[in-house]
Amino acid sequence: MASAKTSPLSFPLFLTLAILFLQPPVSSIVIEEATVQDLQHAFKNKSLTSKQLVEYYRDNIFIQAPLLKSVIEVNPDAMFQADAADREREALAPGLSLGDLHGIPILLKDNIATKDKMNTTAGSLALVRSVVPRDAGVVSKLRRAGAIILGKASLTEWAGFRGKSMPHGWCARTGQGKNPYNTKGDTCGSSSGSAISAAANLAAVTLGTETDGSILCPSSNQAVVGFKPTVGLTSRAGVIPITPRQDSVGPICRTVADAVYVLDAIVGKDSNDDVTIEASKYIPTGGYKQFLKIDGLKGKRLGLLKDLFFSFGDDTYLAEAFERHFSTLRQRGAVLVEDLDASKFLEAYDGIQEYEILAMTAEFKVAINSYLQNLVEKTWEYGQERFLEAEATNGIGNKEKEAIQELAKRSRDGLEKLMTENKLDALLAPFDSAAFILATGQYPGIIVPAGYDQEGPFGLCFGGLKGSEPTLIEIAYDFEQATKIRKPPLFSRSSY
Ligand SMILES: *[C@@H]1O[C@H](CO)[C@@H](O)[C@H](O)[C@H]1NC(C)=O
Ligand SMILES: *[C@@H]1O[C@H](CO)[C@@H](O)[C@H](O)[C@H]1NC(C)=O
Repeated sequence: MASAKTSPLSFPLFLTLAILFLQPPVSSIVIEEATVQDLQHAFKNKSLTSKQLVEYYRDNIFIQAPLLKSVIEVNPDAMFQADAADREREALAPGLSLGDLHGIPILLKDNIATKDKMNTTAGSLALVRSVVPRDAGVVSKLRRAGAIILGKASLTEWAGFRGKSMPHGWCARTGQGKNPYNTKGDTCGSSSGSAISAAANLAAVTLGTETDGSILCPSSNQAVVGFKPTVGLTSRAGVIPITPRQDSVGPICRTVADAVYVLDAIVGKDSNDDVTIEASKYIPTGGYKQFLKIDGLKGKRLGLLKDLFFSFGDDTYLAEAFERHFSTLRQRGAVLVEDLDASKFLEAYDGIQEYEILAMTAEFKVAINSYLQNLVEKTWEYGQERFLEAEATNGIGNKEKEAIQELAKRSRDGLEKLMTENKLDALLAPFDSAAFILATGQYPGIIVPAGYDQEGPFGLCFGGLKGSEPTLIEIAYDFEQATKIRKPPLFSRSSY
């Protein structure tokens, strides 16, 4: 309470005024759940700087990451990069504008190499202090776009390709990652830290990687948007590999638009990943953001395999939620194609996991070997035997070649046939249930929040053939705008 004796300019009041006027104004915009577009708008109207943004995320990471275990390292140079971005923006001539990701902090899954003060370890102690030859291809592109490399997100160690009993979201460097919607629930993986961090607002946007479900599944479980691009659309150079035949780098963000801005920044040719040269034919002139259209569902033919959707026993809650979404899709002008030969389609994938594992194991040996050989320093602390073992094996023989051919044949007889015969624009799937179909076919998929049940969030996935990203964006964006299901987690620190 103010004393009657204090004059208006008593010392405490003077101090208050000084603080008010001398402190840089704390950003007036709400950063939680802000989209890339909101942030760019706030940069432009000078209510926010990149430095303030990095401070915000750093504080959030400081408070939440020890509980959620979703961030392994924060980039010691992030503030320096933010300062540089702010100065570039200040110096910009009127009328000109910087790219969508300029000054935006991004977290990278820890299997994506950065040539800076951070480690790149796939969550493993074995790779701590290993020295990578250069930034991953996607990281070079992010830097060129002006994005701020905020830090490294945790993951299921070695992208889940270490041990069969390893729990989702666990890695030696952080321990068990937690789902912010249900800390006892499944985070899924392997891009768990990216999905958790996006969901809990520990970064503006994040990158994950997928070999089979590793972007789609954790995105589904954490109520965020995951985009797994056609294999080769994004460079895998400098990404700790499982198999170049299926590995893909993609965004995990809170909205479809944010994911598309990130995709625009990371796609394209990279001389260190040959597949990107061929796949660059899929990239539309003018990039992907032109497909963020509000009438994107109009006239789209969506394949609906009831077998994929209604196999959850008697979970009527889920069934009703998806039925509501089907109505929404129809209302927005989509045609749901239901008279599909589901048994013939699923038959094409019968026993496919065996071929996938056979091929992947051999491909992993070759790919990881090459990654490790390219390291400048290999001073890993544990686990060397595994790599020596890998070195000692033969890699891809006849059996593996046959398995790879079989995988390609299954995709032709499966999704390719279903899509072309029925003139489909996309296939609908709940959660990540179609992930293996998309993974083995090198096809793209995008997952959008679709609801919450006792277990936590779940998503609706749209998959398509190679290069169908523009169509998938139109569909996913319109569905998201019509439903707006994502909400931030309401967890409290006491629940850990
Ligand atoms: C600046 O933009 C942000 C984001 O759109 C908005 O929240 C804020 O109110 C704007 N501030 C001013 C002063 O216009
Ligand atoms: C890598 O991790 C180690 C151990 O946590 C840490 O001491 C070091 O500063 C990190 N960065 C680099 C570039 O080694």
